[in-house]
Amino acid sequence: MTGEEGLYGALLARGLSRRSFLKLCSALTGVLVLPAAYAPRVAAAVEAAPRLPLVWLRGQDCGGDTAAFLRSGKPTAAELLIDSLSVEYHESLMAGEQADPSASLREAMARHPHGYIAVVEGAIPAAQGGTFCLVGGRPFVDIVREVAAGALGTIAVGGCATDGGAPAASGGVTSAAGVESIVIGGTVVNLPGCPVNVENLAATIVHFVAFKEFPATDSRRRPLFAYGGLVHNQCERRAHFEFGEFSTAWGDEAAQKGWCLYKMGCKGPETYANCPTVRYGEGRSWPVKAGHGCIGCHSPHFWDAMGDAYLR
Ligand code: SF4
Ligand code: F3S
Repeated sequence: MTGEEGLYGALLARGLSRRSFLKLCSALTGVLVLPAAYAPRVAAAVEAAPRLPLVWLRGQDCGGDTAAFLRSGKPTAAELLIDSLSVEYHESLMAGEQADPSASLREAMARHPHGYIAVVEGAIPAAQGGTFCLVGGRPFVDIVREVAAGALGTIAVGGCATDGGAPAASGGVTSAAGVESIVIGGTVVNLPGCPVNVENLAATIVHFVAFKEFPATDSRRRPLFAYGGLVHNQCERRAHFEFGEFSTAWGDEAAQKGWCLYKMGCKGPETYANCPTVRYGEGRSWPVKAGHGCIGCHSPHFWDAMGDAYLR
């Protein structure tokens, strides 16, 4: 295989220039909090890499994580990278291609007996034999276990796939759970968020491509590069918190002047995520910059645990 045939070739075919490719590798090296000197090594590894096969499963979810990298407008470089992987199976992307999704999945797994990366989006309901979520007539819980067993590793994307998310919030009746609680053995990496930050997903995959292993994680299996620091400690409004300068009404003058949103329910002091530094849309913005306090969507069980962000 030449570099032109692999992942690099797929990126070029999608319109990424050599210059943009090097910029992407350098940006993802930064997201991974690696020294800049690692960027050429990351670029060389991606250049030589095959199109890593990806099997993307969707369970109980809103599709937000798929939408996060499948926007119809101008995709970011990180979105292009994920799109350039060999997505062998994705129920939403393959809709209409084959009548029997189970057959498509079996074929995808058989094509890659030496492994693929499994990505799971959405919660996995366990109640009533898993019948709250069937794909091709099979309980989703069985499909996740089978696919994870043959994978080089499994990445749970979004809050629902990591801890059950919204379907597991109080009032839920499906016993919704995240991947790590239903898969036994194998490597599981959690990328919570509502939705997942595509930059973090791309960086996790690039780390696997470059170093043949997933990035170091914390006790909740979250990569330290993305979930190792508090939002509050990296926030551009932090100085105003220290000076006691707070917004007290949505969109008030204080908020527009960049003052702290803590009194509006901001959960930045309790939330571990790299949103302030990596941001969204290639670094354009993030909730607090846009004037909306953090609701802690990267935190465990945030629907119940993060409380009253909207009751002010
Ligand atoms: Fe902390 Fe939120 Fe205030 Fe930023 S806006 S300094 S994250 S409380
Ligand atoms: Fe979510 Fe807070 Fe980041 S709301 S996107 S964890 S700033």
